[in-house]
Amino acid sequence: MTRHERLLYLKKTTTLSKRDIAVIQHPLLAFKFDDINRMIENAIGILMIPLGIATDFLINGREYIIPMAIEEPSVIAAASKAAKIAKRTEGFTAEADKSLMIGQLQLLSLPISKEIAKQKILINKNELLTIANSKSRSIIAKDLEVRELRDKSQNNMGEMLIVELIIDTQDAMGANVINTMCEAIAPKVEELTGGIVNLKIVSNYATRRLVRCKAVFAKNELGGENIVERILYAYAFAYSDTYRAVTHNKGIMNGIDAVALATGQDFRAIEAAAHAYAAREGTYRSLTKWYKTKEGDLAGEIELPMAVGIVGGIVSVHPVAKAALKILGVKTSNELAMILSAIGLAQNLAAIRALASEGIQKGHMKLHAKNVAVMAGAKSDLVDRIAKRITDENNINITRAKEILALLMKVDKNRKKLSKSD
Ligand code: MEV
Repeated sequence: MTRHERLLYLKKTTTLSKRDIAVIQHPLLAFKFDDINRMIENAIGILMIPLGIATDFLINGREYIIPMAIEEPSVIAAASKAAKIAKRTEGFTAEADKSLMIGQLQLLSLPISKEIAKQKILINKNELLTIANSKSRSIIAKDLEVRELRDKSQNNMGEMLIVELIIDTQDAMGANVINTMCEAIAPKVEELTGGIVNLKIVSNYATRRLVRCKAVFAKNELGGENIVERILYAYAFAYSDTYRAVTHNKGIMNGIDAVALATGQDFRAIEAAAHAYAAREGTYRSLTKWYKTKEGDLAGEIELPMAVGIVGGIVSVHPVAKAALKILGVKTSNELAMILSAIGLAQNLAAIRALASEGIQKGHMKLHAKNVAVMAGAKSDLVDRIAKRITDENNINITRAKEILALLMKVDKNRKKLSKSD
């Protein structure tokens, strides 16, 4: 499809309005420098990242068109390809935990024993929760826990208590309200214990907000038994070797970050939690798990923390993020989390399948060749002509692209001269 046809298709199949389409086409129409200047300090401009859509995602029986913001070639094609294969079986089956987040307070310098301080806090749990809950109507502090911690660093700062609020953030990511709640209860915690509260902050390690997804990929669609076997070896490599696991998980995050970015999520928080979760057994491992079904097909699973929101924060102010959420048509933050897990699984399958067969450079290089042609100075139809030539020659570099550009320009010039003299 052309860009116009793609947008028409979105207009027909989603709730995007004419205005949303205009915003996607020309983001600066809706996003003025004043908005940017309110968002960050010392603003000077805006960085544009390509926005595309991945297709064929069947998740829990519903088909999704998934917006992805990413500068890397092949990622969207790879995700869509894996989704298409999964669709031929049952698609992706995903589930998400409730939106429970943790807010932490670091309690120091206790004049009483840790045990007594702990008791005093827990006896007054309801009052502390009431204080926290006075800060929001929709986000609810549900519980409060206390645990002891000893400094393990070289500074040997001794013992402390960590007070943790368990907060149901519903459809918000929730960091702002969580921080406000932590700050709100800190004076009471100090009054109860006589200690000093140092840090008061959300934990991005959202282990009570996990998302899980699985899918089966038919062996024949993948290219046969041999490919399934090779993919299992790829998984063995990633599970057992940190150097490979980091790259394997980077591929997963290619998909997750791209959707997170498009929909206005805090992708750094998602990344940080994902990598901590990958190392939860004490060794950094693959975030996905792959195995053979009894029919010999390939089954994959992913599980990771997923703190995302569809209300509040940037989601409510960024016009393109709002439009991206409309493309997805998600009704809850859990639904968005499930989509993110499916794209992560799909992205991983596509990467290890390509790596275990023809390699990834073939696909990569096609688009890369176009970029090289542009970098060499090519415009309009010359981009495709030069890209094809350097790809066919298996010589994708800027020097060669410049040579061909000069040649083609000369040929075109001569042609024009000839047609004039005719
Ligand atoms: C490239 O951005 C991602 C891959 O390296 C992932 C992987 O190796 O699994 C292809």
